[in-house]
Formats: sequence, C-alpha cells, structure tokens
Amino acid sequence: MKRPIVWLVVAGLAMGIVAVVVTRGMGFSARVTPWTIEATAMRAARRWATPGDVRRQANPVPTTYEAIEGGLKHWADHCASCHGNDGSGDTTVGRNLYPPAPDMRRPATQEMTDGELFYVIERGVPLTGMPAWGTGTPDGERASWELVRFIRHLPKLSGQELRSMEALNPKSPAEAVHKMEIDEFLSGGKGKQ
Ligand code: HEC
Repeated sequence: MKRPIVWLVVAGLAMGIVAVVVTRGMGFSARVTPWTIEATAMRAARRWATPGDVRRQANPVPTTYEAIEGGLKHWADHCASCHGNDGSGDTTVGRNLYPPAPDMRRPATQEMTDGELFYVIERGVPLTGMPAWGTGTPDGERASWELVRFIRHLPKLSGQELRSMEALNPKSPAEAVHKMEIDEFLSGGKGKQ
C-alpha cells in the first residue's frame, strides 16, 4: 500500500475510535440544544430541497376571517401539542424534541415563503418530530393553506383567540382517563375512589 493511503486509513480509524469513545462517554439526549451551525445547515438544506415552483407559490386561500378561523381550529387540534397555541413551541413535547419545535412567531419562520410553509406542512421534516399532514386531496391542501394563513397570524394572536383555542385543545391521556372515570362514576359504575 502507498504511504498516503496508509495514513488515510490510520486517520480514519483514529477518528472512528474518537467518535466511539466520545459517543459512549456522552450518551445521547434529545434535551440538548442543536448547535447553531447544525440548525443553520439543516434550514439551508430544507430550503434547497424545496422545489422552486413550490417555494414561489402564492397562497391560493385569501386572507379572510373564515380562512384564519379554519386554520386556528386545525392548529388547536393537531399542532398545538408541539407548537403551543401561540406558536412559541413552549410545550412539554415541543421543548424536548431534537430539534425542538421553533418559535414560529420569529423571523426565521415568518420569513419563509407561503410555499415553503405549505411544503413543510404537507410533507413534514424527515428525522425530526414534524409529521407530514398532507392527505393528497384538494380538501387537505386547502386545510394546509389555511394553516399557512394562520401561521402568518400567529404574531398578532389575541387573548380571546387563545382562550377559544384552549377549549379546542385535545385532552391529555391523564385528563381523558379522569373524564372517563367521572363518566363511569356518574353512570353508576365503580370509578376511582
Ligand atoms: C409531534 C410534534 C409536532 C406536531 C404535532 C407538529 N409539528 Fe410542526 N414542527 C415540529 C418540529 C420539531 C419542527 C422543527 C423541524 C425542524 O427543525 O426542521 C416543526 C416545524 C414546523 C414548521 C417549519 C417552521 C420552521 O421555522 O422551521 C411548520 C410550518 C410546522 N411545523 C407546521 C406545523 C403544523 C401546521 C402542524 C399541525 C398540522 C404541526 N406543525 C404539527 C413538530 C411538530
């Protein structure tokens, strides 16, 4: 074997050993904050992987009260568990994902184009907690565009809107069990004492 190749193999092995030792030593955790360089690179990769025509697509759903209301209801039901009703991402799940759910009221999200937001909602983000919500139907697409309208509305959400969303938030399993026990008790069953 030629000398440079031997050195390359040795360097590769050394790096491998260091990676194994460091990983074993540190373990892993979704609680840590991604490095800025990692977050920036992932955001750039996502932008790069969004087809140009989708990125430039304007929202076909007009800014009407109905559209924002539709997005609000959908958000409270499907998105708030991670993103929070206010879009801050400050929820038990949102905070502890890797990467965490971003504060969508901030420029990093608000400066994305309508098409980019739509693309993320429809397709999700691989290797993160963000699921794909697209159903491949015109109704599903309309719902995603309404969600884009609602995301634009997040920075100016009113206290009244926030309260209306709380009523729409799905109940946690613990709350659901508690409600079931009360219903059972009221209907003459044993329930929990
Ligand atoms: C299980 C948790 C979870 C749920 C539920 C969820 N998201 Fe997300 N979402 C995430 C995470 C985590 C990210 C960050 C992904 C990343 O960093 O690339 C994200 C990113 C996004 C982004 C990109 C914003 C940005 O600045 O990068 C949009 C848009 C979005 N979500 C919309 C939605 C909508 C709309 C819903 C509901 C229909 C929803 N999400 C439901 C976890 C979730």
